[in-house]
Order: sequence, then structure tokens, then C-alpha cells
Amino acid sequence: MGEGINDYTKNMVDLRRHMWMAGVEEELRRLIWQIAVVGKYISAKIHEANRKLAGIKNIYGDDQLSLDCAADDILRSQLQFSGFVREYASEELEDIVKIGSGKEKYIVTADPLDGSSLVETNLAIGTIIGIHKESILDTGRNTMVAALYITYGPLITMIYSAGKGAHEFVLNREGEYVLAQENIKLKEKGSIFSPGGLRRDWIPAHLKFIEQLEKDGYKLRYSGGFVPDINQVLIKKGGLFTYPALQKSPQGKLRLLFELQPMAFIMEQAGGLATDGKEDILSLKVENVNKCSPVYIGSPTEVRMAKQFLN
Ligand code: F6P
Ligand code: MN
Repeated sequence: MGEGINDYTKNMVDLRRHMWMAGVEEELRRLIWQIAVVGKYISAKIHEANRKLAGIKNIYGDDQLSLDCAADDILRSQLQFSGFVREYASEELEDIVKIGSGKEKYIVTADPLDGSSLVETNLAIGTIIGIHKESILDTGRNTMVAALYITYGPLITMIYSAGKGAHEFVLNREGEYVLAQENIKLKEKGSIFSPGGLRRDWIPAHLKFIEQLEKDGYKLRYSGGFVPDINQVLIKKGGLFTYPALQKSPQGKLRLLFELQPMAFIMEQAGGLATDGKEDILSLKVENVNKCSPVYIGSPTEVRMAKQFLN
């Protein structure tokens, strides 16, 4: 018998099948699937981007490319009609917006296009998503039920966790997200480090910690894109990413709600850790959408070591 479509797909585990087999509840499954599909649209936008700066500044002062806005628009409009999302918080918006009837089950946070300034350099960029059940601000506890990120690189890959491990999918030529790695597990210790911020702005304790990693032979891996840098630690099964407190910005640069907590959720599901130097990233209160935090995230040995140096 020739190779029919059934032979081709028989052993393939796509995203929907995986979530179904993993027992992810139906509405959450459908929501994650829809977001993964939005990743395809965003990637199409990246391809057609004219790369011109829109001239607008976003509220954090980064140059905002029109591509950021486009990614945000695509995501918001798709989620609006998903039937599963009542509130949407995006790095591109100043406030959380209500997008459903109010009865929907989930609240979604998004960094629609992380690292967008890297587009013109042809380095990888990404989308980061957090999915919550209850109000996200000021609850004092984290209500995240799932998180995912998409990496737009030579291939488009997606890592999701719905609280039952972290799993990697690759978008194939047929447009299916196909399982690449199930239950990614970090080693106790890695061999790469990815330190943000300028050395001259680091606080002394952080400088000492980094010098120790250098002495221990850790290799430097920093692209300037949070998604690919985190993805490298996860796929290489160990190492550390940090964006520390800086002398003039004690809260660092990265945003808790849109960037750090979703990645911490995934990293912990893969057996890693994430801390601000003292507390777990997931236990930090998010008083407002703009809140930033220093971060040390990766395999357990390096994150514990960071804590020791900082305290
Ligand atoms: O979203 C902020 C961001 O672009 C991240 O993707 C990245 O990790 C970080 O900023 C890079 O900051 P810097 O340019 O200071 O190294
Ligand atoms: Mn970002």
C-alpha cells in the first residue's frame, strides 16, 4: 500500500490530541489551541512586516514597532470571539480590557511580540501568554492555570503547560503543531548563562554571582530576546537566565505579569526554579500591570546559587 495521509498522520501527536490525552479540560484545550493558531497569523505578519518604526512609543518607553500593535490586534480580536476569555491584559495596552460577555472562564495576559526590536536583525522573537481563572491583580496568590510561548525562529515552536508538565511542539509544513518533546525536564545544573543589563549597573552581589558562574566555566548565551533566551535554557535542559536589579532600576526590566510569571510557570513545570533573588516569581503580588521584577530563572543549582549570593 502506498503512503496515504493516514499513514502519515497515524503516529503524529498534534497539539489537540496531546492536550486531550493529557486530560486538559475542554475549554482550556480549545483556548490554547486558538492561541497557537494566532501564532501562525502573527508569524505571517512578521513575514510581511515592512520593518518601519511606527514612531509611537509604548508606555514602557521601548520603541514600538507597528508589528507589536499588529500582533496585539490579531490576538485580541481572535480572543474576543473565542467564547472563553472575559479579560485581556497586554503589554501593548495600558489597562486590562474586558473582551467577552463577562461570563467567560478565563483571563489572558499577553506579550504579543516579545523582542520585536530584533525583527530587523532576523533573530528569533516570540509571543508569551498566561492564562488565569481569577482576577490577576492584587489577589496575593497566583491564579495561573496555563502558560505558553511561541518562538518565531528558523522554525516556529510552541511550549505549553497546563500544569501537567511542559511540552514542546513544532509547526510542520502542513500547518500542524506536532509534538517534539513531552515532559521536558531540566537537569539539576546547566552550563550556559544569559545575563541582562550592563555590568557597570549591576549591584555588587549580582556581579559576584556572575563572576562565579564565569569562573565555573558557564558559557555566555544572550540574544536580547527573552523568549529565545529562555527557550535555550529549557531546550538545553539547564542553565540560567537573569535580568537583575540595576543600580538605577531596582525592579529590573522585565514585567511580572506578561513575561516573568508565565515563564516561571513553565520553568517550574519543567523542574526549574524562578526567583527575584528572595521570593519565588510566582508568589509575587502583581499590584499593577506595569510591575517589574528582577529575575533568576533556570535549573535549580544556579537559581539557588543566585539566592545565596544575593542574601
Ligand atoms: O521585552 C523586553 C526585552 O526585549 C526582552 O525580550 C529581553 O530579554 C530584554 O528586553 C532585553 O533587554 P536588554 O536590551 O536590556 O538586554
Ligand atoms: Mn517582552
